[in-house]
Formats: sequence, structure tokens, C-alpha cells
Amino acid sequence: MALDLFKEKGVPLDRQKFTWKDLTRRTFSKLDDDAFTRVRVILMNGIESESVRFSHACARMNRELRESLALIRRVEQHQQTLVNWMNPPNQNPLETTLGYEQTAIEVTASVAQHEPDPYLAQTYRFGMLEDFDHLYRYSALYDRLTGRDPNYIIQSYTDIIPGRPTVLEHRHPLDDVRRSYDKRAADAISKLNALTIVSAENQVHTYYMNIGPMFTDPVARMLYAEIASIEEQHVTQYESLCDPDESWVEKWLLHEANEVYNYYSCLHYESNPVLKDVWQRFLDYELGHLHYVMGLFQQLEGRDPAEVLPRELPEPIGYDTHREFVRKVLRDEEGLSAKGTGFVPRAEEHERTLRYREMINSEGSPSDIASAGYRWRPGTELSDEAERVGTVAEGRIQ
Ligand SMILES: [Fe+2]
Ligand SMILES: [Fe+2]
Ligand SMILES: [Fe+2]
Ligand SMILES: [Fe+2]
Repeated sequence: MALDLFKEKGVPLDRQKFTWKDLTRRTFSKLDDDAFTRVRVILMNGIESESVRFSHACARMNRELRESLALIRRVEQHQQTLVNWMNPPNQNPLETTLGYEQTAIEVTASVAQHEPDPYLAQTYRFGMLEDFDHLYRYSALYDRLTGRDPNYIIQSYTDIIPGRPTVLEHRHPLDDVRRSYDKRAADAISKLNALTIVSAENQVHTYYMNIGPMFTDPVARMLYAEIASIEEQHVTQYESLCDPDESWVEKWLLHEANEVYNYYSCLHYESNPVLKDVWQRFLDYELGHLHYVMGLFQQLEGRDPAEVLPRELPEPIGYDTHREFVRKVLRDEEGLSAKGTGFVPRAEEHERTLRYREMINSEGSPSDIASAGYRWRPGTELSDEAERVGTVAEGRIQ
């Protein structure tokens, strides 16, 4: 049965407690857990990271909210820690990167299919094909640096083939800002979808900006710089879907509702019993946050939260392979680009985007260099070619 946001009150704020041991518990297993467990951990880290980021921005602009925000923000910080510390230490940054792109592809594919507004759905399909290409380019880098098969991490749920080529994803900033939904007319699910995807993309961007300079391989350094730039475009694109006329408290209410919705979705699909307990506990914590902010919304704006929130949560985000959907979108929409807020065939791109792309790619394209000659085949690390070029003999396979 769907969860009733107004009846379920969750755990009150003063009973939401953590210890250092609780925050840094045993991790999931890189190899034994399902790849979608990693996807959920990656997404929920992004959702919590957005809640902290939003909370700081809001505190800087709203004197009367500063204390309430500080109280809840401490919990969000520790939720993010517990979730992010579930990543195992033997999962290296490039493997985590493969997980980030898989998250972007599969979660955006689910959102695109559940989005009732055709323009918003088109925007999600558009961005999804770009992250799909990133998975292919990073897989090529993984093969180049380790000789390993990326399915070691992504477990064959997601195809490893080119999408809309990264070299063509660079657009002028004015071709990345989209039309926002209308806060009065949009379905609640449209508001939650936009928040989920912008949270994921913002975290991907932050992650690449942090780990990119840690690589010694020059191609890896360039590839992270290039793809981080696209993730910044994606943040610009997805945040522009949210109506800027929502009040700060209204936005806060939506953030808490989205956290509830996302933990509820994770709980629905989780196969790892430890994580299942975490998702249940945090679902209850978020219901506590939501009811706290509902009170503020009533008190400060004199409005009924039911104007903004759905009574029951929508269908959960689908943590499953979307291979057929992604293939169809790739066939039908790979050739699209964006011009202003609209989507157009690549032949009709704006002059400013063509000029920008030519300039930024004028000394070569890292994504093309990283993937030159790369074609994924099952068991790449055990292939004849790998032996022939000596990657196995050199002991690069551990
Ligand atoms: Fe949270
Ligand atoms: Fe990406
Ligand atoms: Fe992205
Ligand atoms: Fe929260």
C-alpha cells in the first residue's frame, strides 16, 4: 500500500541520533552485492548532499529559518555520512565513477518513463543519452588503466556502447537552460523527479571535480575535466526545470518530501538486509523532517502543505535495468541537440554552440582519445588481445 505522507509521522527530530560507530559501519560488498545496491548508495549520498547544500543556501537567505535549518541539517549531514561510508574501500575511484554513470543512466531512465510532462520527459531522455556515453568512455579508461571488464562493477545491467558522443555534448551555456515547470500546474511527481535528478547530477559533478586531479595518467586527468564540464551542464539543465517562484519554505518542504520518496523507493527494491534497515530507519527520519517543515510551512506561509504535497507517494523509482528503453531512445534521439530551451536536430544547432564546441575541442578531445579503438567484449581482461599486448603478463590484473 502506498505511504500516506500526512498520516505517517515517522521519528520525531529529538529521537534522531547517531554515534561514530553507527556512522562508519560495515560496508556493502563490491562483488557480492547487487549493482543496484551500489546505485542506491550513490543516489542517496547525492540526495543527502543536496539537502545539506540547499539547507546552507536557505540559511544564508532567511533569518527566521536559520535555527530550524541548523537542527535538521545536522541530521542530514550524518545521514549522508552513514550512506556514503557504505561504499567499500576496495572500490577505487574509477570503479565508483562507473557506478555513478550507471546511476545517472538507470535512475534517469526510470524518471523519464514516469514523468507525466512531455517536455520534462524529453529533457530527461536528452540528458540520459549523454551519461550513457560517459559510461562507455570511462569503461574505455578502466580497460586502459586496469585491463578489467567494467561489468565487474555494473554487472551487465547497462550496455557499454557509445551514446551521444561526449565530444558533441559541449554546448553554449544559453543552450543548457530549460523551461521550468509551473509550480501551480505541475504534478507533485514532476517536482520530485526534477529534485532527484539535479541532486544526482550535482553529486556526480562534485565527485569528478574532487577525484579528477588525483589521477597520474594524463588521459584520465583530461577525461575527468571534460566529463565534469558536461556534468556542470547537466546541473544547469536540471536545476532550471524547478520553478524559481517557489518560496524557500516550499522548496524545503519539497526537499524533505523527496527524501521520503527516495528512501521509500530504495526500501522497496533493496536486497541487502543491512541496507534495508538503513533505508527504513531513514525513511522514518525523513517523515519526521517532513512533518517538522509542514508545521513551519503552515505557520510562516499560512498555507496548507496539501497544496504542494501529494497525499500518497507515487510509484517508487525503478531500480532495474532499462536496457530496452535506453536502446530505443538511443536509436530515436541520439541526433538531437539543444537550442535555447528547445531540442533540435544537430544540423540546426545555434551558431554560439558550434563556436564554443570548436574552441573547446580545438586541441583534441579527451573522450575520443580515451576510447580510441575500444570496443567492449565480454571478459575483456581475459581476451587473447590482452594477453598479446602483455597486460596480463605484466601483472596488471589483480
Ligand atoms: Fe536526509
Ligand atoms: Fe555523466
Ligand atoms: Fe550527467
Ligand atoms: Fe531530511
